[in-house]
Amino acid sequence: MGYAITAEAGANIAFIKYWGNRIEGQNLPLNSSISMTLANCITRTTVELSESARADEIVLDGKPAEGKARARTTAFLESVRRLAARKEHALVSSESSFPTDCGIASSASGFAALALAAATAYGLDLQPRELSTIARLGSGSAARSVLGGFVELRHGADHEEAYAQQLAPHTAWLELRDLIVIVSKEEKEVSSAEGHRIAHSSEMLAARLAAVPERAERVRKAIEERSLALLGQAAEEDAFSMHAVMMTSKPHLLYWRSGTLEVIRLVWELRKQNIDSYFTIDAGPNVHVLTTERYLPEVERRVRASLGFRTICDHPGPGARIVERRPE
Ligand code: PMV
Repeated sequence: MGYAITAEAGANIAFIKYWGNRIEGQNLPLNSSISMTLANCITRTTVELSESARADEIVLDGKPAEGKARARTTAFLESVRRLAARKEHALVSSESSFPTDCGIASSASGFAALALAAATAYGLDLQPRELSTIARLGSGSAARSVLGGFVELRHGADHEEAYAQQLAPHTAWLELRDLIVIVSKEEKEVSSAEGHRIAHSSEMLAARLAAVPERAERVRKAIEERSLALLGQAAEEDAFSMHAVMMTSKPHLLYWRSGTLEVIRLVWELRKQNIDSYFTIDAGPNVHVLTTERYLPEVERRVRASLGFRTICDHPGPGARIVERRPE
């Protein structure tokens, strides 16, 4: 058996979303984004180099990768090989701790874990900043999952400048909770890659980009002060702003289902009853309910009892890390 590296990384939930690229292909974002890396929803990826393999072999959640998923992973490995000036192909196997059939994107945790495992296997000793720029080539949001806790991806002028930085470690706000409400587990019809591309056709995009810096400032302050009210308010505004861009893109993009609205309304109802909870929604129908340890049991009970949806509970977690090297 050859030299193998196993890395783990958490998914993340963005309070200020990344939607739209300045330059296609490099995932150079139009705006800075801020997220929290998750502790429970993680991807574990092993990369083993092979002298004899004539192509990369990629197994995702137990099945050989095909089509777009395979092409995307191979292109990513190619950019790591170029950087390391190496030629060997890789055997990659990757598993996510969260059910990948439930509509939670695994690209952030997947490419962050792959970036660390592949860079290390190919002999690159990278600082978090460089690792983050590389992970960004796989998926924009993966740049943030390289780091733990509360993370900002700078929009940056070029490839080297668009990297993620930690605003606060996960230990800074351990009581924060993300209750992921699975409204629908169907795979989305339009990928976020396509969504980023058509964002430019939305008449709302300019207004969104003008509003993001002030909102991002409120999110940074909320993290510093550990204020759920400040964080949640900005996160709800930003989710609506991103979904307004999606809905007004041409062709339009509507990720919501009726259940999405039911959860939004329940969250607002809970707030009226002084149960602190706020929502945010990524590129899909599922809703992330932001709350604290104190209110979580009640929020979870109400989501299940009145709406009947499945939930996954998560909280802030660490950044990408190597968990195994073979041989030692
Ligand atoms: O990393 P991508 O290309 O899947 O884009 C992520 C897009 C959102 O999840 C909707 C927002 C974000 O910043 O995570």
